[in-house]
Amino acid sequence: MFLTDAEKAMRDGAEGPAVAAAMDLLLRYGAALYASRLCDIRNVAGTMTQPSPVKARLVKEHGWDKAFAVINLDSDGDFEVPPMAVPTCQLQHGFGADALGIVPYPKENIELQASGEAFYGRHGVNILATCTPYQVGNLPMRGEHCAWMESSAVIYANSVLGARTNCEGIASTGAASLTGKIPCWGNHLDANRYGTHLVDVRVQVDNFQDWGMLGYFAGGVAGEDHPVITGSIGQPDLTDLKHFGAAAATSGGVELYHIPGITPEKPTVEAAFGGAVPPSPAVYGPAERRAMYETLNEIGTSADVDFVLLGCPHASVDQIRSAAAALDGKRLSPSTELWIMAPRALKDVADRSGYTEVIQRAGGRVLADSCPAMSRAAPKGTKVFATDSAKQAHYLPAILGIEAWFGTLEECVDAAVTGRWNGGLR
Ligand code: F3S
Repeated sequence: MFLTDAEKAMRDGAEGPAVAAAMDLLLRYGAALYASRLCDIRNVAGTMTQPSPVKARLVKEHGWDKAFAVINLDSDGDFEVPPMAVPTCQLQHGFGADALGIVPYPKENIELQASGEAFYGRHGVNILATCTPYQVGNLPMRGEHCAWMESSAVIYANSVLGARTNCEGIASTGAASLTGKIPCWGNHLDANRYGTHLVDVRVQVDNFQDWGMLGYFAGGVAGEDHPVITGSIGQPDLTDLKHFGAAAATSGGVELYHIPGITPEKPTVEAAFGGAVPPSPAVYGPAERRAMYETLNEIGTSADVDFVLLGCPHASVDQIRSAAAALDGKRLSPSTELWIMAPRALKDVADRSGYTEVIQRAGGRVLADSCPAMSRAAPKGTKVFATDSAKQAHYLPAILGIEAWFGTLEECVDAAVTGRWNGGLR
């Protein structure tokens, strides 16, 4: 791999042992990927504070510096972690102290995480604590090279913002945060950003649920490649594309898509395929839409819903406001809980706007920092849950061994109020 003189100096220890260990990791990683060079980056979204048994043991026995070396740099070196070299944020992690008594989540994890936040905050990590950093001020520019984790955030950054990142890991983002470098391969390169599959939409897609189902379809069609979406689509907003991307990254491993005329990088179908003849389209019509709906609801058998989950990926303020409007003046069934997951910064806005109070008056909760899939925690005794998120409907049954219903916000609120699932495709 080609290295600049500055990169060679980092590798050789000119900036200290932690940076040398970070460069060592990036060189091993880059060699495995046949990357020819490193990209300069100024935007890292990774995870350092998320509690785990290994982290708890390392911190207890050796402290946070050692935990960072082992977990975030794949190094057994003994050194102090220097300040982050470039802007770095913490993605979603575990629940915080305000979830105590609400979420069955271990107090030791909350304490470990609080200690981690203090350590990493001192080292320059912005504790955004959300899977949607783009909703709370981390908006990389078009063409900007980044090192991000979290599949739903990576696909949003590449496709909606036109930034450039692969789906990185805990160690590669750790190394990137100390060096401002990441192997230049995959989505960083112009040649790898063209469309590979064409999806022709022949049924109107213009609401949140439909964008999720279309994303689930597109992920199944494209796998880990790049779908290009054309046809009967309305104007999506941030939440629609947040849902679409998370679903496409769930049923497949999509990290980049193009919607000519909507997403910024490829304004036409011709541009999306680099002037090549587009492949035969995969048609998304009424039958495919119904098939997606049935797949997302195939785990649901009992109509008795004991848990409703909204906000995956983490909710926007407008989604929280819509949930509050739907719950206003209502009361949850005594046998059902409702949680809305949100970035903490946006929960603060919801609190100040009075939305949280309306939701709490109905018996629901707005929770920050995490989610049931991330923290493997749902209300005690949950057997059946309902959600408006294709991603949670896909993952949570496997993670927690529960049944799932997938529907609209209104159907989910109805399930929370009646304790029964009355949804159906319209
Ligand atoms: Fe975020 Fe959890 Fe969904 S981390 S994308 S709310 S699975």
